[in-house]
Amino acid sequence: MNRFKDKTVLVTGAASGIGLAAARRFLDEGACVVMLDIDEAGLNKAAADLPRDRVLVQVGDTASKETATAAVKAAVDRFGGLHVLVNNAGVATEGDIMQTSEDDFAHVMAVNVTGYFHMAKAAMPELVKTRGSIVMTSSVSGLGGDWNTFAYNTSKGAVSNMVRAMALDAGKDGVRVNAVNPSFTKTGMTEDMLKDPELVAKFKERMPLGAPEDPEGVAAVMAFLASDDARLVTGVNLPVDAGVTASNGQPPM
Ligand SMILES: NC(=O)c1ccc[n+]([C@@H]2O[C@H](COP(=O)([O-])OP(=O)(O)OC[C@H]3O[C@@H](n4cnc5c(N)ncnc54)[C@H](O)[C@@H]3O)[C@@H](O)[C@H]2O)c1
Repeated sequence: MNRFKDKTVLVTGAASGIGLAAARRFLDEGACVVMLDIDEAGLNKAAADLPRDRVLVQVGDTASKETATAAVKAAVDRFGGLHVLVNNAGVATEGDIMQTSEDDFAHVMAVNVTGYFHMAKAAMPELVKTRGSIVMTSSVSGLGGDWNTFAYNTSKGAVSNMVRAMALDAGKDGVRVNAVNPSFTKTGMTEDMLKDPELVAKFKERMPLGAPEDPEGVAAVMAFLASDDARLVTGVNLPVDAGVTASNGQPPM
Protein backbone atom coordinates (compact mmCIF):
# COMPACT_ATOMS: atom_id res chain seq x y z
CA MET A 1 0.00 0.00 0.00
CA ASN A 2 1.12 3.51 -0.77
CA ARG A 3 -1.62 5.55 0.89
CA PHE A 4 0.68 8.39 2.01
CA LYS A 5 2.68 9.15 -1.14
CA ASP A 6 3.22 12.95 -1.40
CA LYS A 7 1.95 13.38 2.16
CA THR A 8 3.77 14.58 5.26
CA VAL A 9 3.27 13.01 8.66
CA LEU A 10 4.57 14.46 11.94
CA VAL A 11 5.04 11.83 14.65
CA THR A 12 5.81 12.75 18.27
CA GLY A 13 7.62 10.30 20.52
CA ALA A 14 9.17 8.84 17.38
CA ALA A 15 12.43 7.61 18.92
CA SER A 16 10.90 4.52 20.48
CA GLY A 17 8.02 2.09 20.75
CA ILE A 18 4.70 2.94 19.10
CA GLY A 19 5.96 6.27 17.69
CA LEU A 20 8.93 4.64 15.96
CA ALA A 21 6.70 1.87 14.59
CA ALA A 22 4.32 4.58 13.29
CA ALA A 23 7.15 6.51 11.63
CA ARG A 24 8.31 3.31 9.89
CA ARG A 25 4.78 2.40 8.82
CA PHE A 26 4.06 5.83 7.27
CA LEU A 27 7.46 5.73 5.52
CA ASP A 28 6.68 2.25 4.18
CA GLU A 29 3.47 3.69 2.76
CA GLY A 30 5.29 6.48 0.92
CA ALA A 31 5.08 9.42 3.35
CA CYS A 32 7.66 12.03 4.29
CA VAL A 33 7.96 11.86 8.07
CA VAL A 34 9.01 14.39 10.69
CA MET A 35 10.20 12.46 13.74
CA LEU A 36 9.99 14.50 16.94
CA ASP A 37 11.29 13.37 20.32
CA ILE A 38 12.96 14.75 23.44
CA ASP A 39 15.58 11.96 23.33
CA GLU A 40 18.16 13.23 20.80
CA ALA A 41 20.46 10.19 20.93
CA GLY A 42 17.53 7.77 20.65
CA LEU A 43 16.06 9.74 17.78
CA ASN A 44 19.29 9.78 15.78
CA LYS A 45 19.77 6.06 16.38
CA ALA A 46 16.17 5.33 15.33
CA ALA A 47 16.46 7.40 12.16
CA ALA A 48 19.88 6.03 11.14
CA ASP A 49 18.54 3.29 8.85
CA LEU A 50 15.53 5.25 7.52
CA PRO A 51 15.42 6.96 4.10
CA ARG A 52 17.20 10.32 4.57
CA ASP A 53 15.36 12.09 1.77
CA ARG A 54 11.97 11.48 3.43
CA VAL A 55 12.89 11.85 7.12
CA LEU A 56 13.39 15.00 9.17
CA VAL A 57 14.55 14.63 12.75
CA GLN A 58 13.37 17.25 15.29
CA VAL A 59 14.49 17.32 18.91
CA GLY A 60 12.24 18.99 21.46
CA ASP A 61 9.94 18.72 24.44
CA THR A 62 6.33 18.49 23.27
CA ALA A 63 5.19 20.08 26.55
CA SER A 64 6.61 23.34 25.17
CA LYS A 65 4.61 25.46 22.76
CA GLU A 66 7.83 26.52 21.00
CA THR A 67 8.65 22.88 20.16
CA ALA A 68 5.23 22.42 18.59
CA THR A 69 5.45 25.60 16.52
CA ALA A 70 8.99 24.80 15.36
CA ALA A 71 8.15 21.21 14.39
CA VAL A 72 5.15 22.21 12.28
CA LYS A 73 7.17 24.98 10.61
CA ALA A 74 10.00 22.52 9.92
CA ALA A 75 7.55 20.08 8.29
CA VAL A 76 6.18 22.79 6.01
CA ASP A 77 9.61 24.26 5.17
CA ARG A 78 11.13 20.89 4.32
CA PHE A 79 8.23 18.96 2.76
CA GLY A 80 5.78 21.70 1.72
CA GLY A 81 2.85 21.01 4.04
CA LEU A 82 1.41 18.78 6.74
CA HIS A 83 -1.25 16.10 6.24
CA VAL A 84 -1.16 14.02 9.42
CA LEU A 85 -0.23 14.68 13.05
CA VAL A 86 0.41 11.65 15.23
CA ASN A 87 0.19 12.90 18.81
CA ASN A 88 1.92 10.05 20.59
CA ALA A 89 4.75 11.15 22.95
CA GLY A 90 3.83 10.11 26.45
CA VAL A 91 5.09 9.38 29.94
CA ALA A 92 3.69 7.30 32.79
CA THR A 93 4.04 7.08 36.55
CA GLU A 94 2.74 4.45 38.94
CA GLY A 95 0.80 4.94 42.15
CA ASP A 96 -2.54 5.98 43.59
CA ILE A 97 -3.37 9.61 44.37
CA MET A 98 -1.56 9.60 47.72
CA GLN A 99 1.58 8.18 46.13
CA THR A 100 1.57 10.74 43.32
CA SER A 101 3.70 13.82 43.93
CA GLU A 102 2.65 17.22 42.62
CA ASP A 103 5.73 17.24 40.38
CA ASP A 104 4.93 13.84 38.87
CA PHE A 105 1.29 14.79 38.33
CA ALA A 106 2.29 18.08 36.69
CA HIS A 107 4.84 16.36 34.43
CA VAL A 108 2.45 13.64 33.25
CA MET A 109 -0.27 16.20 32.51
CA ALA A 110 2.23 18.54 30.80
CA VAL A 111 3.45 15.89 28.36
CA ASN A 112 0.34 13.74 27.89
CA VAL A 113 -2.29 16.48 27.79
CA THR A 114 -0.78 19.96 27.36
CA GLY A 115 1.74 18.57 24.89
CA TYR A 116 -1.05 17.08 22.75
CA PHE A 117 -2.85 20.45 22.96
CA HIS A 118 0.21 22.44 21.81
CA MET A 119 0.93 20.04 18.95
CA ALA A 120 -2.67 19.89 17.76
CA LYS A 121 -3.10 23.66 17.97
CA ALA A 122 0.12 24.31 16.04
CA ALA A 123 -0.81 21.74 13.39
CA MET A 124 -4.44 22.76 12.83
CA PRO A 125 -3.88 25.66 10.39
CA GLU A 126 -1.81 23.37 8.14
CA LEU A 127 -4.24 20.45 8.48
CA VAL A 128 -7.13 22.72 7.47
CA LYS A 129 -5.23 23.54 4.25
CA THR A 130 -4.71 19.84 3.42
CA ARG A 131 -7.99 18.54 4.95
CA GLY A 132 -5.73 16.32 6.99
CA SER A 133 -6.15 14.34 10.17
CA ILE A 134 -4.85 13.78 13.68
CA VAL A 135 -4.32 10.42 15.35
CA MET A 136 -3.69 10.51 19.08
CA THR A 137 -2.34 7.69 21.20
CA SER A 138 -4.68 7.41 24.13
CA SER A 139 -4.89 4.06 25.94
CA VAL A 140 -7.35 1.53 27.30
CA SER A 141 -6.47 3.49 30.44
CA GLY A 142 -8.31 6.42 28.83
CA LEU A 143 -11.55 4.46 28.39
CA GLY A 144 -12.29 3.79 32.04
CA GLY A 145 -10.76 3.79 35.50
CA ASP A 146 -7.44 2.03 35.91
CA TRP A 147 -5.54 0.79 38.95
CA ASN A 148 -2.40 2.30 40.46
CA THR A 149 -1.76 4.78 37.65
CA PHE A 150 -3.62 7.83 38.97
CA ALA A 151 -1.80 10.54 36.98
CA TYR A 152 -1.53 8.51 33.77
CA ASN A 153 -5.17 7.36 33.95
CA THR A 154 -6.31 10.96 34.47
CA SER A 155 -4.23 12.17 31.53
CA LYS A 156 -5.44 9.48 29.13
CA GLY A 157 -9.06 10.15 30.06
CA ALA A 158 -8.39 13.76 29.02
CA VAL A 159 -6.88 12.63 25.70
CA SER A 160 -9.90 10.46 24.90
CA ASN A 161 -12.20 13.45 25.35
CA MET A 162 -9.78 15.85 23.61
CA VAL A 163 -10.30 13.65 20.54
CA ARG A 164 -14.09 13.88 20.76
CA ALA A 165 -14.07 17.64 21.43
CA MET A 166 -11.65 18.38 18.59
CA ALA A 167 -13.46 16.11 16.13
CA LEU A 168 -16.73 17.98 16.67
CA ASP A 169 -15.17 21.39 16.10
CA ALA A 170 -12.75 20.44 13.29
CA GLY A 171 -15.24 18.52 11.15
CA LYS A 172 -16.46 21.70 9.48
CA ASP A 173 -12.90 22.23 8.19
CA GLY A 174 -12.65 18.67 6.91
CA VAL A 175 -10.11 17.68 9.57
CA ARG A 176 -10.62 14.28 11.24
CA VAL A 177 -9.45 13.51 14.77
CA ASN A 178 -9.26 9.97 16.17
CA ALA A 179 -7.42 7.94 18.78
CA VAL A 180 -5.96 4.50 19.13
CA ASN A 181 -6.34 3.00 22.59
CA PRO A 182 -3.73 0.29 23.04
CA SER A 183 -3.40 -2.10 25.95
CA PHE A 184 -0.13 -3.66 27.15
CA THR A 185 2.33 -3.09 24.29
CA LYS A 186 6.00 -4.06 24.02
CA THR A 187 7.79 -0.66 24.21
CA GLY A 188 10.22 1.35 26.30
CA MET A 189 7.37 2.35 28.59
CA THR A 190 6.64 -1.26 29.57
CA GLU A 191 10.24 -2.52 29.77
CA ASP A 192 9.98 -3.24 33.51
CA MET A 193 6.52 -4.79 33.26
CA LEU A 194 7.80 -7.17 30.59
CA LYS A 195 10.37 -8.50 33.08
CA ASP A 196 7.60 -9.64 35.44
CA PRO A 197 6.27 -13.04 34.24
CA GLU A 198 3.31 -13.01 36.67
CA LEU A 199 2.15 -9.65 35.39
CA VAL A 200 2.56 -10.71 31.76
CA ALA A 201 0.52 -13.87 32.53
CA LYS A 202 -2.28 -11.76 34.06
CA PHE A 203 -2.48 -9.60 30.93
CA LYS A 204 -2.39 -12.71 28.71
CA GLU A 205 -5.36 -14.09 30.63
CA ARG A 206 -7.40 -10.96 29.94
CA MET A 207 -6.43 -10.42 26.30
CA PRO A 208 -8.20 -12.95 24.05
CA LEU A 209 -5.70 -12.42 21.23
CA GLY A 210 -2.74 -12.66 23.60
CA ALA A 211 -0.24 -10.22 25.09
CA PRO A 212 1.86 -8.19 24.93
CA GLU A 213 0.89 -6.36 21.74
CA ASP A 214 3.48 -5.47 19.12
CA PRO A 215 3.87 -1.73 18.41
CA GLU A 216 3.65 -2.44 14.67
CA GLY A 217 0.09 -3.72 15.18
CA VAL A 218 -0.84 -0.39 16.78
CA ALA A 219 0.92 1.55 14.00
CA ALA A 220 -1.08 -0.31 11.34
CA VAL A 221 -4.33 0.95 12.90
CA MET A 222 -2.92 4.48 13.14
CA ALA A 223 -2.17 4.36 9.42
CA PHE A 224 -5.72 3.19 8.70
CA LEU A 225 -7.24 6.01 10.77
CA ALA A 226 -5.01 8.60 9.06
CA SER A 227 -5.76 7.28 5.57
CA ASP A 228 -8.61 7.98 3.17
CA ASP A 229 -9.90 4.48 3.98
CA ALA A 230 -11.17 6.06 7.21
CA ARG A 231 -12.54 9.21 5.55
CA LEU A 232 -15.91 8.74 7.32
CA VAL A 233 -14.35 8.13 10.74
CA THR A 234 -13.86 10.92 13.24
CA GLY A 235 -14.15 11.34 17.01
CA VAL A 236 -13.42 7.68 17.60
CA ASN A 237 -11.40 6.11 20.40
CA LEU A 238 -10.53 2.77 18.87
CA PRO A 239 -9.38 0.04 21.24
CA VAL A 240 -6.30 -1.67 19.78
CA ASP A 241 -6.11 -3.99 22.72
CA ALA A 242 -6.25 -7.63 21.60
CA GLY A 243 -9.75 -7.77 23.08
CA VAL A 244 -9.06 -6.60 26.63
CA THR A 245 -11.96 -4.13 26.81
CA ALA A 246 -14.50 -6.54 25.31
CA SER A 247 -15.16 -8.16 28.67
CA ASN A 248 -15.94 -5.17 30.93
CA GLY A 249 -12.90 -6.28 32.90
CA GLN A 250 -14.29 -9.73 33.77
CA PRO A 251 -11.55 -12.36 34.09
CA PRO A 252 -12.03 -15.57 32.02
CA MET A 253 -14.43 -18.24 33.39
N1 LIG B 1 3.29 0.65 25.89
C1 LIG B 1 2.03 0.50 26.26
O1 LIG B 1 1.64 -0.53 26.83
C2 LIG B 1 1.04 1.60 25.96
C3 LIG B 1 -0.33 1.32 26.11
C4 LIG B 1 -1.25 2.30 25.84
C5 LIG B 1 -0.83 3.54 25.44
N2 LIG B 1 0.51 3.81 25.30
C6 LIG B 1 0.89 5.15 24.86
O2 LIG B 1 1.71 5.05 23.71
C7 LIG B 1 2.45 6.26 23.56
C8 LIG B 1 3.87 5.91 23.18
O3 LIG B 1 4.49 5.26 24.27
P1 LIG B 1 5.35 3.92 24.11
O4 LIG B 1 4.62 2.85 24.80
O5 LIG B 1 5.75 3.74 22.69
O6 LIG B 1 6.58 4.29 25.05
P2 LIG B 1 8.10 4.63 24.74
O7 LIG B 1 8.65 5.05 26.05
O8 LIG B 1 8.74 3.49 24.02
O9 LIG B 1 8.03 5.88 23.75
C9 LIG B 1 7.64 7.16 24.19
C10 LIG B 1 8.52 8.19 23.48
O10 LIG B 1 8.05 9.49 23.86
C11 LIG B 1 9.19 10.31 24.06
N3 LIG B 1 8.87 11.42 24.96
C12 LIG B 1 8.57 11.37 26.27
N4 LIG B 1 8.36 12.61 26.75
C13 LIG B 1 8.51 13.45 25.71
C14 LIG B 1 8.40 14.86 25.56
N5 LIG B 1 8.11 15.65 26.61
N6 LIG B 1 8.64 15.41 24.34
C15 LIG B 1 8.95 14.64 23.29
N7 LIG B 1 9.06 13.30 23.36
C16 LIG B 1 8.84 12.72 24.56
C17 LIG B 1 10.22 9.37 24.69
O11 LIG B 1 11.54 9.89 24.60
C18 LIG B 1 9.99 8.11 23.88
O12 LIG B 1 10.82 8.06 22.74
C19 LIG B 1 2.30 7.01 24.89
O13 LIG B 1 1.38 8.06 24.73
C20 LIG B 1 1.76 5.95 25.82
O14 LIG B 1 1.01 6.49 26.87
C21 LIG B 1 1.45 2.86 25.55
